Amino acid sequence: MKVAVVTGASSGLGKEFARQIADKEKLEEIWLIARRRENLEQLAEELPVRARVIPMDLTKEEEYAKYRAALQQADAQVMLLINCSGFGKFGRYGEVSEQDSLDMIDLNCRALVQMTLATLPYFSSGGRILQISSTSSFQPLPRLNIYAATKAFVLHYSRALHQELRPKGITVTAVCPGWMKTDFLKVAALHTGDQAVHNFFFVTNPQKVVAKALRDSAKGKGISMYGVGNHIHRVAAKLLPHKLIMRVWELSQQ
Ligand SMILES: NC(=O)c1ccc[n+]([C@@H]2O[C@H](COP(=O)([O-])OP(=O)(O)OC[C@H]3O[C@@H](n4cnc5c(N)ncnc54)[C@H](OP(=O)(O)O)[C@@H]3O)[C@@H](O)[C@H]2O)c1
Repeated sequence: MKVAVVTGASSGLGKEFARQIADKEKLEEIWLIARRRENLEQLAEELPVRARVIPMDLTKEEEYAKYRAALQQADAQVMLLINCSGFGKFGRYGEVSEQDSLDMIDLNCRALVQMTLATLPYFSSGGRILQISSTSSFQPLPRLNIYAATKAFVLHYSRALHQELRPKGITVTAVCPGWMKTDFLKVAALHTGDQAVHNFFFVTNPQKVVAKALRDSAKGKGISMYGVGNHIHRVAAKLLPHKLIMRVWELSQQ
């Protein structure tokens, strides 16, 4: 059975990916993964393709058993894996709790790798993986120090995996969005407040980011970015000292 798997499908980017692949890709089933079952069920009803709801907390090791079993029982041929589950917390080192700090690493890095490794045996030539990184991966970022570091991990892991899987005809695209209008901003400010990060530049709609990411993935690109501002950001981060970029960023948040 030809399936696509989308994590973080209960809101924001993941939900939008599910909607667009249901229209654009030839799939027999879309598997929707996140913690909030009701949100996933609502989305499943709305999609024009059959959808399977798999409620999972991706930071809990024991929850992967049901995902592995589903892949096996369905004799799945995974055409697309889109890893969107992730969160950030605004704040300097003492402002973000130890628990939030570790949870960010667990979800953004560990769970993304675990989903990728669990799914890879069900891919064949033509399969595509999209990993959600961020423009924050381009340089270290004070006030989002752990989040930005997790996204640098995603970017580097995904680019290396893209190279390794190329001979098998499987592509891996690291999607690097800038600020988007999703619940991310609300979750990032929850408990830590919005003082540390409060000026947002080049905020885009997830629809445009997703459409561009799917086009780039279909072309076999290793990185996808939407918007001129984000392209300039990436070039600047390659050419300028990161110390300077971090200083400019801090000034932008005064
Ligand atoms: N919005 C931005 O400005 C922005 C910019 C760059 C990159 N990103 C990245 O884009 C991705 C999607 O974020 P978004 O903007 O769409 O934010 P969002 O609307 O808050 O979506 C985050 C998703 O992650 C899921 N999630 C959170 N904890 C989870 C857990 N323990 N297990 C399973 N799923 C979990 C949430 O579902 P449940 O709560 O139902 O579990 C939700 O579906 C993230 O990786 C984020 O880092 C966002």
